Amino acid sequence: MIQKCLFLVAGLGTRFLPATKAMPKEMMPVLDKPLVQYGVEEALIAGMSEICFVTGRNKRAIEDHFDDNVELDIHVKDTAREEALSGIRELMSKCKFSYTRQAQMLGPGHAVKLGQILTGDQPFGVVLSDDLCFGTERNVLRQLLDVHQKYGCSVVAVQEVPRDVSDRYGIVAGEFLEDGVVDVTSLVEKPAPASAPSNLGIVGRYILTPEIYDALDRIEPGVSGEYQLTDAIDVLAKEQRVLACQFKGKRFDCGSLDGFVAATNYCYRMRFGKLPVPEC
Ligand code: G1P
Repeated sequence: MIQKCLFLVAGLGTRFLPATKAMPKEMMPVLDKPLVQYGVEEALIAGMSEICFVTGRNKRAIEDHFDDNVELDIHVKDTAREEALSGIRELMSKCKFSYTRQAQMLGPGHAVKLGQILTGDQPFGVVLSDDLCFGTERNVLRQLLDVHQKYGCSVVAVQEVPRDVSDRYGIVAGEFLEDGVVDVTSLVEKPAPASAPSNLGIVGRYILTPEIYDALDRIEPGVSGEYQLTDAIDVLAKEQRVLACQFKGKRFDCGSLDGFVAATNYCYRMRFGKLPVPEC
């Protein structure tokens, strides 16, 4: 069983300014729940109850969200408002939370390496909470776990993306091993459409084996001058099996206005019975 899930939450959220000037982008609410809470719920349902954050300056609201607020608890006790806290209270009772800080914005690869102090020497999940995912039948992390349990290797989530936006994604190349599972030969971070090796774009959910740390030590700064996780997984894919899981379900890029509004509308329709609520 994989128990640990790493959340990379140090990013400055510049795509959502001015909202993110003083507030972490991970605390942006879709309806009345912050994005990061959706991700933690997904991890817990997938059996990962040790939640590790690579966080940064001005992100204290995330730690406070997963902590008691005694004054608020007293204020809402035995009122109709108390029910609204039941979901976060359940997460707090079932999960353990740990934090480390990324002082310099050197990229997601650098963040995962810093997270090693929390994730240790076991396989672990990774969530980029900008990507809000709703799986069909099983949530996306669980779908990745199923593939990891069958093959014992690192697994990245992918979905088909339009070629003209390949430069917003990590793109994988490889051959289908079975329905929805790609044996990955290479990964490229944000290629121009003309050089994209496929239309399979990485979505922010991963299961990584500890060999990733050694691969992270061997990469150079890539796109945007940052250490890219995609580049380290590419190193890994050249040395051992790495799979991509074309998950069943929906994903919203909540780091963009369009994606955020679409996610809000989708969740609103689920909440008010206009769409089936996934059980995973
Ligand atoms: C990150 C990853 C990229 C992935 C994307 C998914 O990019 O580096 O490989 O496709 O998340 O959302 P970002 O969107 O943080 O620039």
